[in-house]
Amino acid sequence: MSAANSPHNDQQPMAPPGTGPVRIGQPVPRVDGVAKVTGHARYAAEHPAQGLLYGVVVNSTIARGRIDSIDTGDALAVPGVVDVLSHLNRPKMRSLGMLYKDMIAPEGSPFKPLHDDRICYSGQPVALVIAQTFEAARHAAGLVRVHCCAEPHETELRAGLHRSHIPSRLKAGYSPPPKPRGDADAALAAAPVQHRGEYYSGVEHHNPMEMHATTVIYGPDGHLTIYDKTQGSQNCRWVVSRAFGLSKDKVTVRNPYVGGAFGSGLRPQYPLLMAVMAALHVKRSVRVVLTRQQMFTFGHRPETLQRVALGADTDGTLRSIIHEAVAETSRFEDYVEVVVNWSGQLYRCDNVRQNYQLVKLDQYTPIDMRAPGAAHGVYALEVAMDELAHRLGMDPLALRLKNYAEHDAAKGLPFSTKALRTCYERGAERFGWAQRPLAPRSMRDGRVWVGWGMATGTWDASQMFARARARLQADGVLVVSSAATDIGTGTYTVMAQIAAAAMGWPLEQVRFELGDSTLPVAPVEGGSSHVTTIGSAVEGACEKLQKTLLKEAARLPQSPFAKATAAHVIFENGWMRLRSDPAVAIRLTDILACAGKAALEVTYLLLPNMLKQKKYVRATHSAVFCEVRVDEDFGTVRVTRVVSVVDAGRIINPKTARSQVIGGVVWGISQALHEETLADHRLGRFMNHNYAEYHIPVNADMPEVEVIFTEEEDRIVSRLGAKGVGEIGIVGVAAAISNAIFHATGRRVRSTPMTPDKVM
Ligand code: MOS
Repeated sequence: MSAANSPHNDQQPMAPPGTGPVRIGQPVPRVDGVAKVTGHARYAAEHPAQGLLYGVVVNSTIARGRIDSIDTGDALAVPGVVDVLSHLNRPKMRSLGMLYKDMIAPEGSPFKPLHDDRICYSGQPVALVIAQTFEAARHAAGLVRVHCCAEPHETELRAGLHRSHIPSRLKAGYSPPPKPRGDADAALAAAPVQHRGEYYSGVEHHNPMEMHATTVIYGPDGHLTIYDKTQGSQNCRWVVSRAFGLSKDKVTVRNPYVGGAFGSGLRPQYPLLMAVMAALHVKRSVRVVLTRQQMFTFGHRPETLQRVALGADTDGTLRSIIHEAVAETSRFEDYVEVVVNWSGQLYRCDNVRQNYQLVKLDQYTPIDMRAPGAAHGVYALEVAMDELAHRLGMDPLALRLKNYAEHDAAKGLPFSTKALRTCYERGAERFGWAQRPLAPRSMRDGRVWVGWGMATGTWDASQMFARARARLQADGVLVVSSAATDIGTGTYTVMAQIAAAAMGWPLEQVRFELGDSTLPVAPVEGGSSHVTTIGSAVEGACEKLQKTLLKEAARLPQSPFAKATAAHVIFENGWMRLRSDPAVAIRLTDILACAGKAALEVTYLLLPNMLKQKKYVRATHSAVFCEVRVDEDFGTVRVTRVVSVVDAGRIINPKTARSQVIGGVVWGISQALHEETLADHRLGRFMNHNYAEYHIPVNADMPEVEVIFTEEEDRIVSRLGAKGVGEIGIVGVAAAISNAIFHATGRRVRSTPMTPDKVM
């Protein structure tokens, strides 16, 4: 095809020849696999540009105050340094906070880098050194002296509890805790078996392999082509054009490859705005790359404190659930998460009270991280359920089954589909749960205690709106496009697979284009909704293209398809055939040739059927079973076995879906045992901002993970029957590990990460 049709088609991967026709449910290998492992896939910091300059960020060392002066003399004297940008000399930007609001911004006024002399968190970017080489810029950044007037700060959640508040207005997609039902406090007091516990989750920072980076290519006409690490090219395009007052056609944002980002790229980050600022300032192309240390200067999973109280009859029937959470947010935005709501939905119970509050701290606004809210909210509930089971002398799985919710207990609505019972049953069987001794400290292997734990997981199954375009070309390539993103989850593969299956077209002749703000409208890749949304749009576009092809074929002289409707034909292997007489067939490319067209193209708009959807609660569920081995002398925990059974609806590609769940389990183990950013509150600063001191699991920490999908089709969530697999894999993992540690040692740990000092 001509490069003119797609200026960056070298960036868009296709399956290797010989992959042939595919169907939904086939474990198709990644179409972008070769491009990634051979280094052909370019990430945000790898796109070349003529005369490229490099920007390195200078970050504040105080948590709150004002900048008095900035001394740039030494920095400017470094050979190769072009300029140092700060609030004093930055190009004109809009001052209205509203204009910086991205499509998923929480309530408040978004942070505007280099806007004025105010410092509102430690690590805040305060200057950008622009130089001819990265090395010169980095060296000079260390020579910029920022003189500040510090003011008292507060970064400690517990110290701020007395001034917590209920979030005022709420971001799209967030539901506040529902009104209480029944009288949870009275029912708790009256319950023969009671459990009360306080649970704590520390701060975690995003550490994807690819650091956040932006390359701005300054075009001859001032057009900006921006390669950014983002989960939504259109979200970034929107903010850049509004913040700088640039018309839509002056800015293109691309993200054809993203090296991991499970929330860190949902909102445009400061490297983007600073790189654009620099490019406009010097009228040249500029790249800004954060260092690993600087990855700890924006967005984190918020420190969260929770109280869970459960009351039950002696047979395990739940009589009361109380779940309260307090989390941190910044001074300038109310970042909200669904933390406590699941507790009113997951189990049958007549008396439920939930509460969720925020404390404003002198820290950057927290940001979504894989299964935001659920990762720690469901953790607290599921550890509490295990504690209740222990008090009852009841098997923890039996307690869950005793209180199984056939309908959503909070809204009284049916679930669109719910196969949690199957998850429990299949997981228990695979794991061998029936062999578990009830009492803790029952299993030993030398100086190692062995324990088995389980927990439930849940996440929303949602659908947004999107457009997709499908174009069949005379050269036999089916090009399908949408401004979607592939954060490594497999979007390229799965969308090409859906298109190939829908069109009956060989996979190696399908190219799915994503990662470009000029493509048809798509939401950010978030909330596990890309398959239900973009996938459904792709399928819809392909069906529309089939109808167009049929119409063209019907118009041909003496066409055997003259009277055929969509129901009369089938598409397979590149041909359209009459269902009644499969020998009557025409190659799709011949339809184009006969009609004298170089290509046929359609666009399809997917709008969720909200009237139908709102009659159901739509959710994914999982059951996680795990084994831990705890060293008696050192308190070290090893997870040695995990079985995760997931109800995520129809699985489009079992290979990429399994990878998602394994990735979720890895992160769950990380949450349970390793990850935490610790602050020195005297300085108001995160201290362990590097891989040496911020721990994440390595291969040697990972056990075999068995993933099982229940595979009910859910046609209410999406026409494809899929419910989404991105986040569900992490939910429940930390709780299952915590419960297994208790079973091994008799020691209950109510905070993450469960480090040896807590386990001993
Ligand atoms: Mo996800 S935390 O919506 O990238």
